[in-house]
Amino acid sequence: MLTDAQFERFSTFIYEISGIRFQSNKNYFVASKLQNRCTALNLPNFDAYYDYLQKPSSKLEEYPKLMDEVTINETFFFRNQPQLDAFEQDILKPKLIDMKAKGQNRLRVWSCAASTGDEAYTTALQLISLPEAQGMAIEIVGTDICRKALETARNGVYKPYAVRNIPQDLMQKYFTHDEATNTYQLSDTIKKMVTFQECNLIDENRIKMLGHFDIAFCRNVLIYFDEPSKEKALWNMYHAIKDDGYLIVGHSENIYSQRHIFKQDKDHTAAIAYVKAPPGTPKL
Ligand SMILES: C[S@@+](CC[C@H](N)C(=O)[O-])C[C@H]1O[C@@H](n2cnc3c(N)ncnc32)[C@H](O)[C@@H]1O
Repeated sequence: MLTDAQFERFSTFIYEISGIRFQSNKNYFVASKLQNRCTALNLPNFDAYYDYLQKPSSKLEEYPKLMDEVTINETFFFRNQPQLDAFEQDILKPKLIDMKAKGQNRLRVWSCAASTGDEAYTTALQLISLPEAQGMAIEIVGTDICRKALETARNGVYKPYAVRNIPQDLMQKYFTHDEATNTYQLSDTIKKMVTFQECNLIDENRIKMLGHFDIAFCRNVLIYFDEPSKEKALWNMYHAIKDDGYLIVGHSENIYSQRHIFKQDKDHTAAIAYVKAPPGTPKL
């Protein structure tokens, strides 16, 4: 356990670098994660680790390792099928048809808390099967603050739990089962559709480097933020999403409190889709 003062110091530190807000009931969780870092660095106690984090070199080397520890990377392919079906029918297909009609042939999709890649690859699997996507240049970018998760994403090897919801035909076509390890290797055809990069959602300058997207997924990450860090992340996403683009949030989430930034797309409620609020919308 951390003392109250230690918890306050570490949780504030984590919040400032990531936007993730730990409440005091997470003391045991945070302590066990910090203990892993103390052990790895051979440091005698939490205070020594806090001092270590203040070293200038820690920003590049230790912050990412701390993030690897404290982030929750739970994800799986085709997470919430009804939402994804609605996304495909109501957003993706009409968007592709509209883009083609306008002579635009490049679709950019962002999975902004991609974890081990399951969400970004799910979009790739949806797109590769769509006749409307034929002839389009598809670019899917998966980003996350957790380096470890991104490494798994790039490898594209998954345990049965992660792939359990994938339709059989897609499974057969795009995965190879390895009997020895009981894992599933994703084919290069799908892997090539997605690139992964480290990116912190509250880092405005880093996000600017990603360019602009037609569709952004931001599912199951803002639940770890408080209102100010949620607002910061959403403004960053606002600038990264094209004016006629969409933001898709998790099926049990809503960002109503930030409706001056994104407003729910009333025509596409099943997809849990949001569009940009008109510029100058007052904060209520
Ligand atoms: C629970 S996973 C969600 C994965 C996927 N979007 C899904 O819904 O299945 C949350 C992810 O958010 C990432 N994350 C947390 N804070 C972040 C931040 N400030 N910037 C970028 N990613 C962050 C974590 O590393 C983790 O991989």
